[in-house]
Amino acid sequence: MTCGLNPGFFLMLFCLLHSTEETCPSVCLCISDAVSCSSSGLTKLPHSLPSFCLSLDLSHNHISWLSPGFFNKMPRLENLLMAHNQLKALTPGIFHNVSGLRHLDLSSNKLSVVEQHYFQGLWRLEELLLFNNKITRVEASTLSGLSSLKKVYFSLNQITDFPFFSIQDHSHPFLSMLDLSSNRLTHLQWEDVKALPRLVQRGLYLYNNSLICDCFMYSMFWHWDLRGYDSVKNFKEEHICSINGDPRSSIRFLKQNRFFLNCTVEKPVSQPVTVLLSNVLVSEGERVRLDCQTSLTGTDLSFTWLSPSKGYITKASIDTLISLFPNGTLEIRATKVNDSGLYVCTAVDIKQALNATREVNVTVLLPAAELFNTGYTTLLGCMVTTVIILVYLYLTPCRCSYCKRSKPYDSSGLSSVLFCSTRDQTKNQTDKHVAFIEPEHQTIKGLRIKVAI
Ligand SMILES: *[C@@H]1O[C@H](CO)[C@@H](O)[C@H](O)[C@H]1NC(C)=O
Ligand SMILES: *[C@@H]1O[C@H](CO)[C@@H](O)[C@H](O)[C@H]1NC(C)=O
Ligand SMILES: *[C@@H]1O[C@H](CO)[C@@H](O)[C@H](O)[C@H]1NC(C)=O
Ligand SMILES: *[C@@H]1O[C@H](CO)[C@@H](O)[C@H](O)[C@H]1NC(C)=O
Ligand SMILES: *[C@@H]1O[C@H](CO)[C@@H](O)[C@H](O)[C@H]1NC(C)=O
Ligand SMILES: *[C@@H]1O[C@H](CO)[C@@H](O)[C@H](O)[C@H]1NC(C)=O
Ligand SMILES: *[C@@H]1O[C@H](CO)[C@@H](O)[C@H](O)[C@H]1NC(C)=O
Repeated sequence: MTCGLNPGFFLMLFCLLHSTEETCPSVCLCISDAVSCSSSGLTKLPHSLPSFCLSLDLSHNHISWLSPGFFNKMPRLENLLMAHNQLKALTPGIFHNVSGLRHLDLSSNKLSVVEQHYFQGLWRLEELLLFNNKITRVEASTLSGLSSLKKVYFSLNQITDFPFFSIQDHSHPFLSMLDLSSNRLTHLQWEDVKALPRLVQRGLYLYNNSLICDCFMYSMFWHWDLRGYDSVKNFKEEHICSINGDPRSSIRFLKQNRFFLNCTVEKPVSQPVTVLLSNVLVSEGERVRLDCQTSLTGTDLSFTWLSPSKGYITKASIDTLISLFPNGTLEIRATKVNDSGLYVCTAVDIKQALNATREVNVTVLLPAAELFNTGYTTLLGCMVTTVIILVYLYLTPCRCSYCKRSKPYDSSGLSSVLFCSTRDQTKNQTDKHVAFIEPEHQTIKGLRIKVAI
């Protein structure tokens, strides 16, 4: 055998080479499918990392650039954490071979421009964290193709303009968080913002920017506030705008809206008409209360009900049978069958010139007395049956006296009864009896015990 041609040697060599490729760098921790090299003082990427890892944590280091093709050896990578590093830009094509990425954290770096090639091909990406960088600009098609995106964080940067038009229903169907708070946005393309999918609008964070107060801006936030979006509700104090672009005269516009009183006319006329259909089922003679809860939550609401039997009902038209509470709830004290039908409540917020409606379909059933009669008949039927069974059992005492005669089984009254019934099953006549009482098993048990005592 010649040493040099030993296939085992090649295998060993291959394994050695392979294993060096797979080894865990001494500064990192490799745990099952995760590798953590965080806070390891790294100034550049480690030489080799296990190829099978799904999660790679390189955060809190001093990495300033990503060598091309570095992630090619980790095709299964799903989570890449690189927060708190020194990245100024991303190498073109760096993520080309890691299209399985779902979570990418590049927050607290030094990125200055988000170029359109940065995230190309990451169509599985769900979360993108870019907050606390030095971003001044986001190129127009940066987010295009990222069709799985759910959350994007651009907060704490210096962004002055954002390509809202690139986000549409079909391009980003799952996007529910677009955080642009604490940036330097001044004039937004409010038409583009207004055209954003509802889900994106609900999760659009714009507080602490350099917005310039104007009616269109105000009406946008006013509507979001009206709808109770968390993005607005939770940061009322931080929503600021400056009058005429002068930063010294900035106002918390969701708190002090005096400046916008003149805007009323410019508020979009499209009204949030909420139609909530519900069904109410009552028996004639019963009292019913129909609430008028709509999307309007103001304190100065006025309510009108349109009823099928009585027409319009307002505060002024209350009578003894019907009343309208200040909160819009309509009460009918004794319903009649012909009170059935569709009740429509309109809540009007006079100040904001908004109305919303609520519909309730009321069905008044036949007089309850008739229903009770049916129940009563059934009950009576049951009682009669019970009495018949009792009488039947009392009038046929022979079998039990027969039991008592057989001494060995007479240890207790109860056992004799049980024995009695098993013995009885041999007789055809008693079979009929059993069949008769079967459905009322519960009652029969009780009766038997009574008989035994
Ligand atoms: C990475 O992708 C390129 C094409 O984009 C391909 O040629 C190359 O073989 C891939 N590398 C790996 C390690 O998969
Ligand atoms: C507002 O943004 C500035 C930077 O633009 C930041 O320093 C500050 O902490 C932010 N304030 C809040 C309340 O988020
Ligand atoms: C609103 O309009 C009135 C009259 O046109 C004007 O006097 C007032 O200054 C305006 N208020 C604001 C805050 O612009
Ligand atoms: C409206 O007021 C009435 C009477 O005060 C009350 O019974 C009802 O629960 C209130 N409805 C709502 C929806 O708050
Ligand atoms: C309700 O129905 C009765 C007959 O069932 C009728 O006499 C009465 O006029 C009706 N009332 C109204 C308000 O329609
Ligand atoms: C909605 O409100 C406007 C103005 O407040 C009013 O003229 C209109 O009649 C209302 N619509 C309905 C259906 O009540
Ligand atoms: C109201 O309810 C009744 C019974 O459930 C149904 O027949 C009727 O079509 C409903 N009306 C409306 C407008 O939904």
